[in-house]
Amino acid sequence: MKTKNFLSIFIVLALIQTGCQPQLKQCKSNLDPAVELKIDSLLARMTLEEKVGQMSQRSKHGEDGSEDIKDEVRKGNIGSFLNISELRQRNELQRIAVEESRLGIPLIFGFDVIHGYRTIFPVPLAEAASWDIDLIEKTAAIAAKEARAVGIDWTFAPMIDIARDPRWGRVVEGSGEDTYLGSLIARAKVRGYQGDDLSDPQTIAACLKHFAVYGASQAGREYHTTEVPKRVIRNVYLPPFKAGVEAGAATLMSGFNEINGIPASGNKYLLTDILRGEWGFDGFIISDWRSVKQLIYHGFAKDESHAAILGSTAGVDMEMVSRTYIENLPGLVREGKISEDVLDTAVRRILGVKFRLGLFDNPYVDPKLADTVILAPEHRLVARQMVRESIVLLKNENNVLPLHKNVKSIALIGPLADNRIDLIGTWATDAKKKDVVTVLQGLKNAVGDTCKINYALGCETTGDSIEGFAEAIEAANSSDVIVMAVGESEIHNGEACSRTNLDLPGPQKELLKEVNKTGKPIVMVLFAGRPLTIDWSLENIPAILLAWHPGVEGGYGIADVLFGDYNPAGKITVTFPRNVGQIPIYYNMKNTGRPEEEDDRFTSKYIDAPSTPLLPFGYGLSYTTFEYSNLKIENSKVSIPGTVKVSADITNTGSVAGHEVVQLYTQDIVGSVTRPVKELKDFKRIYLKPGERKTVTFDLSTCDLRFYDINMEYNVERGDFYVWIGPNSAEGLKGSFELL
Ligand code: NOJ
Repeated sequence: MKTKNFLSIFIVLALIQTGCQPQLKQCKSNLDPAVELKIDSLLARMTLEEKVGQMSQRSKHGEDGSEDIKDEVRKGNIGSFLNISELRQRNELQRIAVEESRLGIPLIFGFDVIHGYRTIFPVPLAEAASWDIDLIEKTAAIAAKEARAVGIDWTFAPMIDIARDPRWGRVVEGSGEDTYLGSLIARAKVRGYQGDDLSDPQTIAACLKHFAVYGASQAGREYHTTEVPKRVIRNVYLPPFKAGVEAGAATLMSGFNEINGIPASGNKYLLTDILRGEWGFDGFIISDWRSVKQLIYHGFAKDESHAAILGSTAGVDMEMVSRTYIENLPGLVREGKISEDVLDTAVRRILGVKFRLGLFDNPYVDPKLADTVILAPEHRLVARQMVRESIVLLKNENNVLPLHKNVKSIALIGPLADNRIDLIGTWATDAKKKDVVTVLQGLKNAVGDTCKINYALGCETTGDSIEGFAEAIEAANSSDVIVMAVGESEIHNGEACSRTNLDLPGPQKELLKEVNKTGKPIVMVLFAGRPLTIDWSLENIPAILLAWHPGVEGGYGIADVLFGDYNPAGKITVTFPRNVGQIPIYYNMKNTGRPEEEDDRFTSKYIDAPSTPLLPFGYGLSYTTFEYSNLKIENSKVSIPGTVKVSADITNTGSVAGHEVVQLYTQDIVGSVTRPVKELKDFKRIYLKPGERKTVTFDLSTCDLRFYDINMEYNVERGDFYVWIGPNSAEGLKGSFELL
């Protein structure tokens, strides 16, 4: 009661001071009272084992393959499965749960549907590069529709870890380094997966992951320790999760990592105090794969029983794969070592989501549904659009691009050119190679019979064999223009794929150099799931398109951009370093007490490389050019609460129409704690015909300028600010305003 009063006073004070929405949310359940009653009645009849059964998730084969999973379901020892997408098996297990277990509670089936189920979209980092929030919501909605049709009720997505270290393989799964953009995307994906009503058979439950700070794994090494100050956690890493909670995410996953000495899956401060207490999250929390048991390896729990106590009392409601809960919690309650309330609370949340999904009323999925839904032509069209929008033009010297369709011959060279699996990318468990349009197919489709395509593999993305170089050079010599399809393959990205070297893997750089010696114009199509150190290519290759891992429509989308049927407008959402030694490097850094100055040796820089990035956050070119002019700040002195109106004119000064992502950044020049040199605050994706000019106006609320201050309070501070409107984080028109 005391805490509640304190919270209300705090909310009122926050409102009076800043005029912003309160940061605290009263805990409230989304369930209607009739459902609450049903849950009460089930809880009253459940044994301790049945309660803990609901809190236990198994993979398709049990933990080690030896379990009789059907019998376990029958006994009520399992509440959920992951990795089952074979519908007959799913419906049969569900039948056993509903018809043969004592209480008939349905199972919930989870799966990693990360960037599409069968219609595989570009990897999440690529989707972010589109800056098209509506389209991102749409691809999530399609993924949900396809997944639900094969009996998947719940996806372990979106992954919304802010990532500032490209060595970390999981950079590919998120939206990049920016908190503001990451929060918008988190919200859009939750909306896309869950729609308005989770019981609608076209939606699935979302899972915000990995809570929290996993993206800060030291040295980019997977599963590594994180040491991040609380203020940075609050300002940088948590907002996307908060946005996802506000959007109504049904579940959340605790991470593998430890944060400042406390592993995420035993972290009461994060899982209960912040998530439940401050944000009012009312869904359930699942651990990551065996991460409760791993509390032992962290040196946080002494044995499995201790791990079960730490995980469940910290707030992990369901344990993924490991069995510390099922084997220990019933006994621990009987021995009085843990309260039964912990179990009841967890089960209440889990059943709540099962009710929201409509699993009690409709536990089965019609096997005929998938035929009409999976890879529907309209899904493929959206995928192709997303491929086009996610492609980033990194360089285009002498207008090598777009290619003319009447070109007589093209050499298509490289390990990604006639490749399916690597176009799909990581985390696409049920993707089928046959569904993928390769770059070779895409080019052939675009040019028809009029152009000869001379394909050569050149080399692989791994190993060091250069046997294929001769054939590649021959193909290059006998063609008018060369398209090099090079980069990372699927095995280089995703979980457990940290790299210490971010060059093109295998002998691809040598291949590029050899082909470049032919003197023919080269277009490099770069496939990657993270920033790569492509300084040589950027210097020497005239045109570069970053195509990421584009998914099933990759070949078509890439051809659309190569031949100018679509004018690229993607912008990178992660900084590209010049070399690995610069990492971590991200646009919203602090200034230091000795900001870099060319003529002063004793300023913050390196002696062997510039401290600027190779490519800044927000960067991307177009086949046209945009001119930014006429920055206006309508009210340069604003009191709090208030709104600063900032505008600029953007003109298409080239000869083709195109989209431009117009970005708004600010700098809070002096703070009670130091502030980043720039922060993205808003953006608009606009379309301009040749010669057309538009005024783009941003309403910047003083609420958008809040941060955790010297007293760890979320406030906006009076004083001077810089503001920029520009095409990326390193350029733009600069102005200033003052908050009074
Ligand atoms: C481990 C990964 O960290 C997580 O992202 C994923 O959802 C689970 N495994 C389930 O596959």
